Amino acid sequence: MLNFYIKTYGCQMNERDSDSAAAILEENGYHAVDSEEDADIVILNTCSVRDQAERKAIGKLWIIKSLKEKRPHMIFGIMGCMAQSRGEELLQTIPHLDFAIGTDQIHQLPEVIRAILEGERKIDRDERSGPDTPGIDVHRLDESGRHFSAFVSIMRGCNRYCSYCIVPYVRGPERSRDPQGIVDEVRSLAERGVCEVMLLGQNVAAYGLDGSVPPPPEDCSPFADLLARLQEIEGIRRIRFTSPHPAFFNRRLIHAIAELPKVCKNVHLPLQSGSDRILKLMNRPYTAEKYRDIVGNLKSLIPDITFSTDVIVGFPTETEEDFQMTRDLMNEVGFDNSYIFKYSPRKGTVSARMEDDVPQEEKERRNQILLKDLEDRLAVRNESLVGKTFEILLDGPSKRNPNRWSGRTDGFKLAVFEPKTALKPGDFIQVRIIRSTSMTLYGEQVIEA
Ligand code: SAH
Ligand code: SF4
Ligand code: F3S
Repeated sequence: MLNFYIKTYGCQMNERDSDSAAAILEENGYHAVDSEEDADIVILNTCSVRDQAERKAIGKLWIIKSLKEKRPHMIFGIMGCMAQSRGEELLQTIPHLDFAIGTDQIHQLPEVIRAILEGERKIDRDERSGPDTPGIDVHRLDESGRHFSAFVSIMRGCNRYCSYCIVPYVRGPERSRDPQGIVDEVRSLAERGVCEVMLLGQNVAAYGLDGSVPPPPEDCSPFADLLARLQEIEGIRRIRFTSPHPAFFNRRLIHAIAELPKVCKNVHLPLQSGSDRILKLMNRPYTAEKYRDIVGNLKSLIPDITFSTDVIVGFPTETEEDFQMTRDLMNEVGFDNSYIFKYSPRKGTVSARMEDDVPQEEKERRNQILLKDLEDRLAVRNESLVGKTFEILLDGPSKRNPNRWSGRTDGFKLAVFEPKTALKPGDFIQVRIIRSTSMTLYGEQVIEA
């Protein structure tokens, strides 16, 4: 029996694809191992979103070379976004690379590996597929790990063409899956013990509207309809999703989030910039005002709602004033988490034709300011939660201190506590918060009478 190891870079979409690839390989008789040293087949699932992501994978490609010199029978391939966009080039320049499988061809893995075992080399598969590509709904569900929570891809690709972003080029056009297939997948996950699903797509708020131009009518949201159908599935207790594009947020979706009890009251809403001028250059068709409205409407319906976001600092021509607008808007919303990225020009995108004119040190400075703001704000905000009791979904013992367990609140806050009863990952328990830091809530288990 041959062993395989998949190393994953990039976003949750890639994590999901790696899980599906692993499930497909296991169905075909291959055996998963935890390290590349023990593997006969090593696959890197790659990301192209920023230069650094590509460099990481390329660095690893060369590390694998020495491994393969020691174990010449080893098969080595790449999948994911870089395999899609640069597969052919990498197969030519990296002598020890055997195959590249694009983002829509994961189901071809067993066949490609079989061909290589039979002596073929340098296989490149980069064709596009339909939305319900084979294997999109298979899950490995690690029985020992987080078997109670699963990612579900609801659509492929992206049509937004934000001017900085490579994703539409590597992931292809938006293709929404058939809702019935998604409902069946989630139901079968629930039957296998999953109680939390994270719905994935690059533009989930546009699910079912493939390629349409925003804004959609206020009362039309196939995504909200999907949430309502998933709400009905027995065994599922939490529904999360990422990422919705603000331009597709409408009244129907806002009300669905507020009214469906299983939909977690935590929304990741990528802002990118608080300056209308920069948003326009980014080809993000909303204004800071529209963003404020969405947040305001959600907050008025759901007082406890939490938000997280993505922001890019140092986009071409971003001035101190533009940056301050981003900073002010972020402080005004009061995000519970933010992913801050330094602009990185990607070949082939529209903004790559603009001069990358904000110096690296300045990008770093802006990045640090936003991180510091976030930390300061969270210290205060988390302090205000001391004394409150939350229901948390248990992840399991913490890595550093096995006496402590951790889990997430509905609002995706990390809470740590020492168990008083026998517990297992995937349990829901009540925790009262007794102290906090900017990163973590520390609590005590509340025993229900
Ligand atoms: N589809 C998701 C984002 C996927 S990429 C969405 O729009 O919400 C994740 C994040 O990477 C983006 O939100 C953006 O903030 C960042 N990003 C994308 N391209 C980038 C680039 N060229 N430079 C820096 N950050 C980038
Ligand atoms: Fe990239 Fe924009 Fe699509 Fe997100 S919505 S994946 S940032 S093009
Ligand atoms: Fe990276 Fe591809 Fe995700 S480029 S961020 S792995 S969609």
